[in-house]
Amino acid sequence: MGLWTWLLFIYLILICFVDDVLSGRTSSFRRSEWPSTDIPLDSEAFVVPGGYNTPQQVHITQGDYDGKAVIISWVTESETGTSEVLYGTEEHKYEHIAQGTTTNYTFYNYKSGFIHHCLVDGLKYNTKYHYKIGTGASAREFWFQTPPEIDPDVPYVFGVIGDLGQTFNSLSTLEHYMETGGQTVLFVGDLSYADRYEYNDGVRWDSWGRLVEKSAAYQPWIWTAGNHEIEYRPDLGEISTFKPYLHRYVTPYVSSKSSSPLWYAVRRASAHIIVLSSYSPFVKYTPQWFWLREELKRVNREKTPWLIVLMHVPLYNSNEAHYMEGEAMRDVFESWFVHYKVDIVFAGHVHAYERSYRVSNMNYNITSGSRHPVPDKSAPVYIIVGDGGNQEGLAVRFSDLQPDYSAFREASYGHSTLELKNRTHAFYHWNRNNDGKHVLTDHIVFRNQYWASNTRRRRLKKHRKFPN
Ligand SMILES: *[C@@H]1O[C@H](CO)[C@@H](O)[C@H](O)[C@H]1NC(C)=O
Ligand SMILES: *[C@@H]1O[C@H](CO)[C@@H](O)[C@H](O)[C@H]1NC(C)=O
Ligand SMILES: *[C@@H]1O[C@H](CO)[C@@H](O)[C@H](O)[C@H]1NC(C)=O
Ligand SMILES: [Fe+2]
Repeated sequence: MGLWTWLLFIYLILICFVDDVLSGRTSSFRRSEWPSTDIPLDSEAFVVPGGYNTPQQVHITQGDYDGKAVIISWVTESETGTSEVLYGTEEHKYEHIAQGTTTNYTFYNYKSGFIHHCLVDGLKYNTKYHYKIGTGASAREFWFQTPPEIDPDVPYVFGVIGDLGQTFNSLSTLEHYMETGGQTVLFVGDLSYADRYEYNDGVRWDSWGRLVEKSAAYQPWIWTAGNHEIEYRPDLGEISTFKPYLHRYVTPYVSSKSSSPLWYAVRRASAHIIVLSSYSPFVKYTPQWFWLREELKRVNREKTPWLIVLMHVPLYNSNEAHYMEGEAMRDVFESWFVHYKVDIVFAGHVHAYERSYRVSNMNYNITSGSRHPVPDKSAPVYIIVGDGGNQEGLAVRFSDLQPDYSAFREASYGHSTLELKNRTHAFYHWNRNNDGKHVLTDHIVFRNQYWASNTRRRRLKKHRKFPN
């Protein structure tokens, strides 16, 4: 190795270890590989599978609370066809059959295809399943892997993607994610940006479904709704909010006792994942507030040590874009996040990347007193991954002075990966698009907020049953 290579190597090692004591960093690096324009409809990225009424836009999501079910969804364009899923553990040999349902909707002058949702449950953990949808020559086959049984020390890798859209940058983010070995996507809202088109053209919902199929048909994407899903257009006579999103992307909300598909929770491997809706009522005494209060009580850190919250609008954000939009929700939920020692809150909305230190601002008093976020060991780390690459482009204007709570920020496209190792450790990376290595991107080791405390660690040592 040459001298410079050695120096770089030593520098990278230093960065790994001194991360927490460094003050915040604003990266001057910016990358936008392509202009922020949507991929043309006739592009290969949106290719319609051949044959009559062939299933397209195939995607799956977790179908229950604990990961023994999936919901498989797809669209057929010409006629209803069948909503059945054939599945089994051997390729081309399907022992089981599940019956789904069909829906369709109109949005102003757009008429959707036939949207199928099929719950496949009673699955075995840690098993590869093959599935087949459609009939005859138009049938298509896919597969997915069920997660391991809920266990505090089972490793699992989540990807985190937000504000994806359908530009060439979006495609780059998606392909880059698919190379990182993530097993499930935590999606923090703003999917297709179809609402940017005249009359919110649903054709762009269809193209987006075909764009993400190459990942979403094979592993669950855990959905969070963003502002581009609202689609409230009274001028077009469209007054029911979230209409296309709710028809196309279903969630297993009933199994977490939620009354709305827009907020819910799932448990997967060693994680308890809570999904919130920034654009549904959340103040005290609303359904979402009541639900979250009860759901947090159901969290069992002895079984699922990692407590992760997803939402669209960030509670901590030092970008000029969407500055302070999360304040109302911060005021209502922050004290709960601190009390229950949430590990990480992921959000999108701001088209950039930013990670906070562990801070809270619960002393805020509208009359007087302290108004500054302060270091707080029990607080979550807040991470914004709104940099999927949609047509609105990057949010390049951060506040001039980086606030104390902000650890790292950069306006480039990318996604994150969260590797849960065991009950105490998780490796986290933010991956900028097109960089094969993690050079210069953000990475930290998370110590679990529940198990990192001294008494629990001692207890863990005493009762440890697993090897090494
Ligand atoms: C659903 O599709 C059927 C058959 O084409 C059609 O009659 C019906 O109007 C559609 N419903 C909606 C809400 O678009
Ligand atoms: C807010 O500040 C006012 C004035 O100092 C004080 O009287 C009040 O008790 C404070 N409220 C809270 C909730 O701390
Ligand atoms: C948990 O994982 C970390 C990182 O891989 C490792 O250093 C640590 O020893 C593991 N802890 C236990 C109890 O196995
Ligand atoms: Fe947004």
